[in-house]
Amino acid sequence: MQTIRPRLRAARILAAAVLLGAGLMAVPAATPSSARGATGPLPDCRLDDILTIPRGYDDWQHTLVDWIFTVGKSYVPPDLVSLSRAGVTGGGQVRKVALNDLKAMAAAARAHGTPLGSVSSYRSYQTQVSLFNMYAKGYGFDAAILFSARPGHSEHQLGLAIDFAAAGTSTFVSGTDRTGRWLATNGWKYGWLLSYPEGKQKVVCLNYEPWHYRYYGRELAAKIHASGLTTREYLWQNFTAVDPTTGQPLATPTPVPSPTDLASPGSSGDVPTDSPLESASPSPGVSAGETPVPSSPAGTLFGLDPPALVAGLLLVLAVVGLIASVGLRRRRPGSGYRR
Ligand code: DAL
Ligand code: ZN
Repeated sequence: MQTIRPRLRAARILAAAVLLGAGLMAVPAATPSSARGATGPLPDCRLDDILTIPRGYDDWQHTLVDWIFTVGKSYVPPDLVSLSRAGVTGGGQVRKVALNDLKAMAAAARAHGTPLGSVSSYRSYQTQVSLFNMYAKGYGFDAAILFSARPGHSEHQLGLAIDFAAAGTSTFVSGTDRTGRWLATNGWKYGWLLSYPEGKQKVVCLNYEPWHYRYYGRELAAKIHASGLTTREYLWQNFTAVDPTTGQPLATPTPVPSPTDLASPGSSGDVPTDSPLESASPSPGVSAGETPVPSSPAGTLFGLDPPALVAGLLLVLAVVGLIASVGLRRRRPGSGYRR
């Protein structure tokens, strides 16, 4: 009995420490309530005119426009094609990069009995000027900014957004009609995501728009869909590389550009030019890569959250204690640790 007790005690201490450590490790890391990007948390909604980065025409998937970030007035996508080529009614244009998936989505929607039409698709900077001014005049500026992007800030200017309608009509789909519901359920599978979801006005800055979808490509759309984040949060968190206050490009070390990045016109000059930053191309590695977050985010040590650090420390202490205890017992004559 005498020989077993110290081992038991040590084993119990170790077990308790392991359990405590494991428990602490299971505590979720303190996560901010909203997405955290390379330059900090998602900026609150405020009206500004900061040139977004990346914004090269090849960076279309990763370009964030919102209340703060703009692509400027000279941004005109180089590859606009007619929506009718995708079998969507209503006229208008979209970037060619979106055409095949739009065509596939339109065919699937048609097969479901809910063929697609468009109320609005590509809009130039000037068209957005007219539209926004009209809304601001009719409803007042404060109301207009909740449902209309200011010129330079619209996803329609990217040539990647469509306001959907049922085919042959010019009435926006709703969140409850058959076409709107089909899009809400299936759009992401074809690369299209809702930009302004219900209940997210504080996050995306704009009111719910069940008709407004933006194209990201199937792969990225699936990732964003799975993340549960809004597109604004996801783009901010993973791709946006500009300080939202100063407008300066991301000041963190630039990752070594891959051959693909170097070959990409989007990172070597085909950036629309109408601003002081016009010659500053988005940093190549950042514009193409995901999650350019700081290596050790604020509030962590060596990239570890405090609970994980405490847990690790406890485990180390427990193991050291056990080894010391075993060593002591061994040195005592007749302690029972010797065989
Ligand atoms: N209605 C959306 C927000 C736009 O004007 O782009
Ligand atoms: Zn729209």
